[in-house]
Amino acid sequence: MRKKLTISSIKQAKGAKPLVMITAYDALFARLVSGSADMILVGDSLNMSFAGKSDTLSATLEQMIYHTQAVCTGASESFIVADMPFGTYINKEEALKNSIKMFQETGCDSVKIEGGADKAEIVEYLCRNGIAVCGHIGLLPQSVRGEGGYKVKGRTEEESKQLIADAQAIESAGAFCMVIEGVKAEVAKEVAASVAIPVIGIGAGVDVDGQVLVFSDMLGLFEEFTPKFVKKYLDGASLVRDAVATYADEVQKREFPNEKHIY
Ligand code: KIV
Repeated sequence: MRKKLTISSIKQAKGAKPLVMITAYDALFARLVSGSADMILVGDSLNMSFAGKSDTLSATLEQMIYHTQAVCTGASESFIVADMPFGTYINKEEALKNSIKMFQETGCDSVKIEGGADKAEIVEYLCRNGIAVCGHIGLLPQSVRGEGGYKVKGRTEEESKQLIADAQAIESAGAFCMVIEGVKAEVAKEVAASVAIPVIGIGAGVDVDGQVLVFSDMLGLFEEFTPKFVKKYLDGASLVRDAVATYADEVQKREFPNEKHIY
């Protein structure tokens, strides 16, 4: 069994070894990924790949708590980060009340909130009150409707400077690590170099302190769309479809169950 990471060991990984983060939304998958992942993220991406919605915005705190409980049960030896959903950290009091609920009801190790310098005050308040915070800068899926689409960041000098300012603000506020999403690789490299805490990339190139992927993307289970940054390590959808078709065929031909499967 792997040794569970701590906030200190996660911070110490910077410059020593790339961190591996994978999402999971239930106990079954949490158990499957826990052997290889340093951290499991219960991402609000579940609203798309699990609940079938077009973005993450309608995920509720209750739903995130339900899924985080399942992941914590399935992978009790893993370091678990729970996404705080849209609208649950609009000010520091709400953020603390909702993060405490997440901590108390799930046993997760940290929450993740999206935003940069604009969220630093909230991150600072959470950390001061015993909530470990993973930041999330760059492309922010919870801002997709406000911004009118998923926009890669770091394309201009101004955006690059803002990303560095965001990372530094989140670090100064007390976050122990952060995700950087959808950022030009050369800019993400600069951002990672500008802070002393790990910066975990998704669609941000290789020169950061770790990688995170959504499990249903990397296993080829989510077919709606595949972002450029996703590598499919398995053709999961075809494997599942073929297996279910074989099952259906065997049922129809009365080949299943056979003598091995009956009492
Ligand atoms: O919700 C999620 O899965 C995430 C990842 C994309 C980092 O936030």
